[in-house]
Amino acid sequence: MESLSTLVVHGATAETPANQPVSLPIYQSASWTFGDLDEVDAVYAGDKPGCIYGRNGTPNHRALENLFAKLHHTEAAVACASGMSALSAAFLGLLGQGSKVVASQDLYGSTLNALHDLGRFGVEVITIEITDLDRMQTALRGARMLVLETSSNPRLRIPNLHRLCAMARQAGALVLVDNTFASPYHCRPLQHGADIVMESLTKFVSGHSDVMIGALAGRRDLIEPIRSVAVRMGLVSNPHECWLSVRGAETLELRMQRASSNAASLAQFLQAHPKVRKVHYPGLPSHPDHQTAQGVLQNGFAAMLSFELEPSRQAVNTLLHNLRYIKLALSLGGVSTTLSHPATSSHRFLSRAEREQLGLHDGFLRMSVGIENLDDLKGDLEQALSYL
Ligand SMILES: Cc1ncc(COP(=O)(O)O)c(C=O)c1O
Repeated sequence: MESLSTLVVHGATAETPANQPVSLPIYQSASWTFGDLDEVDAVYAGDKPGCIYGRNGTPNHRALENLFAKLHHTEAAVACASGMSALSAAFLGLLGQGSKVVASQDLYGSTLNALHDLGRFGVEVITIEITDLDRMQTALRGARMLVLETSSNPRLRIPNLHRLCAMARQAGALVLVDNTFASPYHCRPLQHGADIVMESLTKFVSGHSDVMIGALAGRRDLIEPIRSVAVRMGLVSNPHECWLSVRGAETLELRMQRASSNAASLAQFLQAHPKVRKVHYPGLPSHPDHQTAQGVLQNGFAAMLSFELEPSRQAVNTLLHNLRYIKLALSLGGVSTTLSHPATSSHRFLSRAEREQLGLHDGFLRMSVGIENLDDLKGDLEQALSYL
């Protein structure tokens, strides 16, 4: 009879079912066993399907990666611990001392800061207004990588992806596009000529504000060196987050249809409202990139919009105190409609003068539109705006 101490470690056995579960189980194990040394060799060589160690990935990682690669119609993907770790893996995997990176000056602040951090390792970063194509042409000479976003934050400017990718290709630079705001439902940047697509799956793809995860997809010869770095440096995701992200992605199309249609209606509603000074939404003909957006985005114009009240912190606080459903939350892409305030969040470390130069005054708000009933959202905004 085994002792209790042995039983509690080895006694919880169950047969592996011969049939398949509908939902992939969560492989919550940091290490895997091998029958003998030949099996170790076979798994390392890829001759036998198997897992090695948590950091090398589990079936949950592989499921999400296969899904993400398929969603972007490409060969390979790697899942990372967050959008930022995916970007870091791409930079560490593809850049080296002396590499020049050209980046949109409107990139998400942490992405720009991460690129500037790489300055300590000899990476040169040039930031550029992406509509300035002449400067772009000059800057791209000798560049290793061009970094863009499908949609900028918070003014939602849309780059001419096709044109910029062609310019980068001519200059021999790789193009990495952060597609977080669009998701594969609204844009597949690789089809416009980009080499690597990155998404913070924390946002629309997972969709429920309960996961931190990111992924990169592209040709196998680009993704595999990045995967090696991500595994070595510990930038990878974990089985539970991968599982949650796959589960969230199942409803991506339904959520995006509803959220982007809500966003288009709310953009019109806000534009017509006397208390709103300006609305930024690429689906509105008044948006400077409306035309470009029609070539870059598909299935509508996505679920992010920004709007301007009078330039007053008090006006924003009054709105926030009176909204019933729409909350202030400094992220995006969940099923609920949320607001963020660039002046006190994403752009809080800029001086007031720098913010004003970007037009990000105290009354500027960004909205991530969710899947609630449209009339309830309009009603919530209408009643809260009436207090201004
Ligand atoms: C456009 C964009 N890219 C990347 C990130 C980083 O993603 P994560 O927070 O998952 O690291 C964010 C986060 O807000 C983002 O908005």
